[in-house]
Amino acid sequence: MSLMWSYTCSVGIEAMDDQHAALMDALNEVLAALAHGAEQQTITTCMRRLVTLAEQHFASEERLMEQHGYPELAGHRMEHRALLERLYEWQGRRPAAGYLTSWLENLRGWFHNHTEGADREYGPWLHGRGVR
Ligand SMILES: [Fe+2]
Repeated sequence: MSLMWSYTCSVGIEAMDDQHAALMDALNEVLAALAHGAEQQTITTCMRRLVTLAEQHFASEERLMEQHGYPELAGHRMEHRALLERLYEWQGRRPAAGYLTSWLENLRGWFHNHTEGADREYGPWLHGRGVR
């Protein structure tokens, strides 16, 4: 099952929506590589890209919240840390493709809950401060 990007996932801030879509693409790319039996090197490259995109996206999301004094920043940051820790757990390991696939599917569920939950709360708040 692949999770397609849709406007129901929108947080209403263009740059954040673009980054969410790029992250979802990167995640789907690893799953596709695994499904097609890609070589370990390809999987490692795809996973590195996913980790880098997640780090960059979380940093820019947190920066935006910080700039505008978003009151729920601390809790939101903790959710980001939790996700990054899960991604870092993978680094340096070479798990079986089946294990990595189910792990990534869980991660995608987590990510989806995060964008549908905590992320959608900051959208209207930032909108109220003129952020588009
Ligand atoms: Fe977030």
